[in-house]
Formats: sequence, structure tokens, C-alpha cells
Amino acid sequence: MTDLQQVLDEIALDAAMAADRGVVAQYIPELAKVDPRQFGIAVALPDGQVVCAGDAETAFSIQSVSKVFTLSMALGKYGDSLWSRVGREPSGDPFNSIVQLEQEKGRPRNPFINAGAIAIADLVLSGHQPREAIGEIVRFIRHLADDDSIRIDERVARSETEHGDRNASLAHFMRSFGRFSHQVDHVLGVYFHQCAIAMTCHQLARAGLFLASQGQNPLTGTQVVPPQRARRINAIMLMCGHYDGSGEFAYRVGLPGKSGVGGGILAIAPGKASIAVWSPGLDTVGNSKLGTAALEQLAKRMEWSVFGA
Ligand code: DON
Repeated sequence: MTDLQQVLDEIALDAAMAADRGVVAQYIPELAKVDPRQFGIAVALPDGQVVCAGDAETAFSIQSVSKVFTLSMALGKYGDSLWSRVGREPSGDPFNSIVQLEQEKGRPRNPFINAGAIAIADLVLSGHQPREAIGEIVRFIRHLADDDSIRIDERVARSETEHGDRNASLAHFMRSFGRFSHQVDHVLGVYFHQCAIAMTCHQLARAGLFLASQGQNPLTGTQVVPPQRARRINAIMLMCGHYDGSGEFAYRVGLPGKSGVGGGILAIAPGKASIAVWSPGLDTVGNSKLGTAALEQLAKRMEWSVFGA
């Protein structure tokens, strides 16, 4: 059997020596300060064991990876009626694009582009004050990771709030189609705080384990989502999780995955593993450069691609 620890150590060593590490996100000033030389990887297995290498215990801003968790939460509350608010087709456009929203009358293509995730935040906010909704998201993620130390990085949340014109535009534009239930600043407050949740690779891999285990969290024994829903969330991650880089990610890695501009990626090998990788430098479409390379290597060496060896 391939020794997972050895594979991860070799991947971390390759990453440490990489010359081109991509570029750290610049449009959120607090993220632009992050040291690009970091790299961490953690693999959580269905028996609860977690195998790590590199900076797997350093917390980073999960950013858009949070969209997997808010989608799972919102599906639990609203079931399939959620799909009247967002679609489930790849957009082929950048994560913060506004162009399709006009043609599609304020219904974003999928829950992972910013517009879609903001629409989901509007749903999560229903019946709550923004502070309560944010608390609910953090509690959900803590429960998934079975770790109460997970926190929001308030500096990142503030930094994005101060530079959030693009997301505010998306939200106002959707609201103009009568598709928003709450005030834009309240919805954005929820959205910016969910993106500012800080987690280590170790914590993130554990939090994703339910998606590798037919919706059940082996750490707590709870059925987080029904098996069919876990399968469907994985399908959306595969098709839409890397925005206009989703085709390339599927081609190279062959796993459902969700990236964030903090440089994190959560990838799921159904039935086999939940993988979190982090390296802050991004490629041209905003996905972690070394993180993608690491997952490509891992999937190949472990023969974990959903498309076979
Ligand atoms: O809304 C934003 O722009 C960020 N909070 C999240 C974007 C993101 O992570 C895109 N992922 N690669």
C-alpha cells in the first residue's frame, strides 16, 4: 500500500522548492500581507485519522471554501426550493463576474460564484439578525471539524468590508430584480464574515469529511446531509468549485474541489478522503497554484481521481 505520510512529505518538499508560487490575492489588503512561502496539506480519512505535512497547523482565511458549508446549511433549511435562487451550472466566468446576472435576471449560475454565495447568505440570514446567522455558520463548521477553537479573523472581515464594492454591486444588482429578502449590508456582513473564517488544513480536512463519507461525519457520528445530497454537493464542486478554472482542475486533479482566494482548497475523494491544501499564491484565475499542483500529484499517486487511475 502507498504510504500516505511519505507521499505528503514528498509533496510538501516539492512545494518548498517551487520557484513560481503564484501571486497572493491583492484586492483584500489583509490577504495581500500573507507570506507566500507557506504550504500545508492535510488528509482526513474516514476512520478519523488525519495525516499532515508542511504548515498544516497554520490558520488561513478559508474565503470561498466557506461556500461549501453555507450551501450545505442552506440546503438543510430550504431543501430543493433553494434552486429557485441559484442554478447549478458552471459559469465559465471569473468568480466575481456580473455579466451573466443581467441576462439571467438576478439568478446566479451556481452557489459558488460570489453572486450565488451572496444569494445563499441571504437565505441563511432568514429569521436571524446578521450576528446570529454568522454565529450559526461558525457553530456548524466547528461541529463539522469537531473543534471549538475555530474563529473568524475580524481583521480580514473588516478589510473585505472596506474594499467590497464589487460584491456590493452584485448584491444590489440581484436586489434590483426583487430577488433579495434582506438589506444588502446585512447580507454582505454575513458573507464577508463567513469568508473570513480562519482554519488550519487539519481542521478543514476534518470539516469536509462528511462529503467523503456519504454525508455522515465519522468524527461525531452525525448524519450531516443525506447521502444523495453529499453526492450532489460533490457534483457541484466538481463542475463549479474552481470557477473558470473548473475544467482545468477536473482535468488535472479529477476530484470535486472548492478553492478560496486565501489559497486554500478543499478536495473530496468520495469514500476515501477529505483533503485540505493551502498555499497563498494564486494562479491567474484565483486558485492556489501550488495547492492545485499538490492535489494533482496526490490524486495521481494515491489513484484517487474519480475518473480512475
Ligand atoms: O468575495 C470575495 O471576493 C472573497 N471573499 C471570496 C472569493 C474567493 O475566495 C474566490 N475563490 N477563489
